[in-house]
Amino acid sequence: MSSLVIDNIGLLITNDPELGEGPLGKVRNAALVFDGGAVRAIEQPGAVADQRIDAEGRCVVPGIVDSHTHLVFAGDRSEEFAARMAGQAYEAGGIKVSTEATRSASRSQLTELTAKRRNEAIAAGITHTEIKSGYGLEVSSEKRSLEIASEFTDDVTFLGAHAVPSEFEGRSDEYVDLVCGPMLQACAPFSRWIDVFCEEGAFDLEQSRAVLEAGRDAGLGLRVHGNQLGPGPGVQLAVEMGAASVDHCTYLTEDDIEALAGGSTVATFLPATDFSTLQPYPDARRVIDAGAQVAIATNTNPGSSNTTSMSFCIALAVRELKMTADEALQAATLGGARALQRTDVGHLTPGARGDAVMLDASSHTDLIYRPGVPLIRQVFMAGVPASPSSGVGRELSEG
Ligand code: NIG
Repeated sequence: MSSLVIDNIGLLITNDPELGEGPLGKVRNAALVFDGGAVRAIEQPGAVADQRIDAEGRCVVPGIVDSHTHLVFAGDRSEEFAARMAGQAYEAGGIKVSTEATRSASRSQLTELTAKRRNEAIAAGITHTEIKSGYGLEVSSEKRSLEIASEFTDDVTFLGAHAVPSEFEGRSDEYVDLVCGPMLQACAPFSRWIDVFCEEGAFDLEQSRAVLEAGRDAGLGLRVHGNQLGPGPGVQLAVEMGAASVDHCTYLTEDDIEALAGGSTVATFLPATDFSTLQPYPDARRVIDAGAQVAIATNTNPGSSNTTSMSFCIALAVRELKMTADEALQAATLGGARALQRTDVGHLTPGARGDAVMLDASSHTDLIYRPGVPLIRQVFMAGVPASPSSGVGRELSEG
């Protein structure tokens, strides 16, 4: 593999305070050199490599790490979205509509839909993604979704406990037994993580705990959807069980914030979901000031957040969640990596994976200052310019 230099970078964000100024490790007037799929060095402009790309003074940031997506689904719920905008409330029950469509789709249709969304996300600067199942809700459909997800990432999450499917209506404990037993057994070999939607209308505290314990016994890392539609036990459960991340965190009490600050679980905000479901926005400022680790993610899914645009999420995080521009960019890069417990992505320290994004701007602040403008000029994955097909096939593993 030949080396490549991105030369004449006006502002390079490394996310490594040892390499530059402040928590973002900002380096002005730099060259970023990739070799063998990884970052080789940060040098002065004019550095030499086999290939050269001139950034002409633009800003280069670490590749975006999207730690929460549901890319494997079929069907369309735009009418539900339109009804919501006209005043109808968001309900977790909509998941079942996508479940019907996903079960009915062929494997090749689902793979093609997932590839299309992954390619859209790469064009939006998302160089590493997590992907969940959760629209199969039966053993073979969940397993199939995870097999498909594995073609696109090594951060695959088993989310059999996303909703109680219609055939188990009124028998949620029996469904939890299925998730913790035969479904987990079939799905664990394709998964790194297990997740549960701990929320009124989905799974209660004891059911959620049972799912997480079963996943942990099967060797999976833990993730939780919690506190999305109202206050609830999701955050405290996630922290107590040492989950890598608790996602949504729209409704947080002071006790929840204290628990997050005292634990190792990353609070992952999904602001495009609050936008799309007309929920209030969480106050990330309070969470950051309390000392907790935070991330932001797109939550790409057909019901509550049908977007692959992290730029949009970053803009919302600043405008509505009270993050600074620097905090929001870091939450979408290093924060996502931390939420996935990865050290190989989310920063541009020599040795890290060669994932970076050149913006059509002199600063990352333009992602908020120029909302809605396509500012992702060029995406680099594993040290090479990404092509539309970069989303197909497994990404590099850590280590
Ligand atoms: O993260 N919260 C649960 N799951 C998705 C919703 C998916 C849907 O409505 O289809 C979410 O928002």
